[in-house]
Amino acid sequence: MTAEVTMRAVDVIRAKRDGQVLADDQIDWLIAGYTDGTVAEEQMSALAMAILFNGMCQQEISRWTEAMIASGERIRLPAETLRGRPAVDKHSTGGVGDKITLPLAPLVASCGAVVPQLAGRGLGHTGGTLDKLAAIPGWRSALTGPELLRQLDEVGAVICAATGDLAPADRKLYALRDVTATVESIPLIASSIMSKKIAEGTDGLVLDVKVGSGAFLKSVDQARELARTMVALGAEHGLRTVALLTDMDTPLGQTAGNALEVRESVEVLAGGGPADVVELTLALAREMLAIGGITGIDPAERLRDGSAMDCWRRMIRAQGGDPDAPLPAAVETHVVRASTAGTLTRLDAYPVGLAAWILGAGRARREDPVQAAAGVETHVRPGLPVRPGTPLFTLHSDTPERFDQAATVLREAVTIEPTGVPVERPPLVIERVSA
Ligand code: URA
Repeated sequence: MTAEVTMRAVDVIRAKRDGQVLADDQIDWLIAGYTDGTVAEEQMSALAMAILFNGMCQQEISRWTEAMIASGERIRLPAETLRGRPAVDKHSTGGVGDKITLPLAPLVASCGAVVPQLAGRGLGHTGGTLDKLAAIPGWRSALTGPELLRQLDEVGAVICAATGDLAPADRKLYALRDVTATVESIPLIASSIMSKKIAEGTDGLVLDVKVGSGAFLKSVDQARELARTMVALGAEHGLRTVALLTDMDTPLGQTAGNALEVRESVEVLAGGGPADVVELTLALAREMLAIGGITGIDPAERLRDGSAMDCWRRMIRAQGGDPDAPLPAAVETHVVRASTAGTLTRLDAYPVGLAAWILGAGRARREDPVQAAAGVETHVRPGLPVRPGTPLFTLHSDTPERFDQAATVLREAVTIEPTGVPVERPPLVIERVSA
């Protein structure tokens, strides 16, 4: 008798509901059945909730990850594409204003690595890398396998959409988790991210695990557990993995929104840009180079001498984009000003991300379009003095009727206290986790 006949989804759900450890063959059967439709959405939904409440041990997480990798193809980058260069990648767990992939991929490629970034679109208050790049006129995210390899060979960096064959079980499960309030489970986040990254076939991976109000995980303890789980999964699969826990209480940089974030990324590539975006880009670049065994190259120098910018321009052109074309501008802008005097002591990431989403930068459903030009520009940072009338934010949107709602949300983002109140800020890079 085959496993298909002897197993029932309801027994697997009941086992996890009652806190039992799932057996390897139960996990294999369940993921294969969910991918081919034998296991129904409502059954997987119940199981995801049971996992959220009762967790999974490392053996279950490991097997779950393997089963998701096995649900699709596993890419192997050919030696003639790599030409002796290490393939390294970075993945962020998602945050507000997190445009780091845009300057990082060409920067690391300009230092001699190959960077195959298979990225996603945004959902909810965190933006997606593909949505940001799609603001560049002509740029396309869908590449064929041969196009991807040619670009890696010639340019060294590619940021494109993952093909439908890469961990298809995760694609289905992530969409289900998103609508069933089961995203915030450490075993499910770890297996989701690592199944895609292991299937992608890189030699090394640097994880940017976000912590704070604008991240999925709000506490350092939770973020550390997620980082350790992912680093262990990488080690098991021969993928050298390092994680940085980074602050996401305050948005990264001064922009949240697609075209706005491209503009800020180009400023970084031109040797300028906000200090926190530069700091995190360089910290992640140094980890990627170290993990790829590239020594003696200072990525800050590659920003200064223009080689990272050259690589960016070639990367954008290779995907049909025009790096010199003006970026889309919003139909209208609106400035939100301070009404009291004092020192800005807190700028909360979550309302900023939410406001950008309300203005049209994000989508509520997968099929929704996004506005390329919509978003929020922030003019203040914690520690700065403000007085009545000081510009706090500029809102950009093609649907100005949403300004009021976004402005109301943004009032919650700022805390202004009497001057002299100490402003405490965690370091941008909080902790490093390695095997
Ligand atoms: N990013 C992913 O790819 N998966 C998750 O579960 C969360 C963030």
